[in-house]
Amino acid sequence: MLAMIFAHDRNYLIGKDNWMPWSIPNDLAYFKEITSGKTIIMGRKTFESFGKPLPNRHHLILTRNQNYQAEGCEIFHEMQSLLDYIDQRSDEEIIVVGGADIYQLFLPYADHLYITYIDEEFEGDTYLPKIDLTNWNLISKKKGIKNDQNPYDYYFLQYNRK
Ligand SMILES: NC(=O)c1ccc[n+]([C@@H]2O[C@H](COP(=O)([O-])OP(=O)(O)OC[C@H]3O[C@@H](n4cnc5c(N)ncnc54)[C@H](OP(=O)(O)O)[C@@H]3O)[C@@H](O)[C@H]2O)c1
Repeated sequence: MLAMIFAHDRNYLIGKDNWMPWSIPNDLAYFKEITSGKTIIMGRKTFESFGKPLPNRHHLILTRNQNYQAEGCEIFHEMQSLLDYIDQRSDEEIIVVGGADIYQLFLPYADHLYITYIDEEFEGDTYLPKIDLTNWNLISKKKGIKNDQNPYDYYFLQYNRK
C-alpha cells in the first residue's frame, strides 16, 4: 500500500531553500509518528535536506546519478523499479515523503494521503503538484495545537482514494 505525507500552506507551498518554509515542531513529531518503522521514498534533494538518514526508517532514494551513494539507504534510478518494489510488498505501508517531483510521479499510485494543512501564506520556492481531492474521501481531520512553538492554525487530514 502506498501513502504520501506532506505539509502545505494555503497556496500549496511545501519548500523553501531545500527545507520547510515554516517551523512547526508538532508537525515534525507527527511526521515521525507516521513514518517510524516504515519504508520511505524520497527524491535525492529531500534526502539531502535531512542531512542524514532518519532513525528507524528504511530510505529509498530516487536519483538519476548512477554514482550516488548514501550509507544505509537503497538507491533507485528508475521510477519503475520503485513501483516493482512497492508491488512486491503490497501488505506493507510504504510512504512517499517528497519532494514535489516525487509527489508528482507517485500520486497516481497512492492510496492514502497524510496532509498537514497550514492555514497561512508563506514565501518559498517549491509547490505541490495539483491534487484533485474530489477523487479522495476525507477520513480524518484534527486541529493541531497552536502555541508559542507552533504559532499557526494547522490541521492533520487523512484521505483514502475513492
Ligand atoms: N512540506 C513538505 O511536506 C515537504 C516534504 C518533502 C520535501 N519538502 C521540500 O521540497 C523541496 C525538495 O523538493 P524537490 O521537488 O525540489 O526535490 P525532490 O523531489 O526531493 O528531489 C528531486 C530529485 O529527485 C530525482 N528525481 C526526480 N525525478 C526522477 C526520476 N524520474 N528518475 C530518477 N530520479 C529522479 C532527481 O535527483 P538527481 O538530481 O540526483 O538526479 C531530482 O533532482 C525542499 O524544499 C524540501 O524541504 C517539503
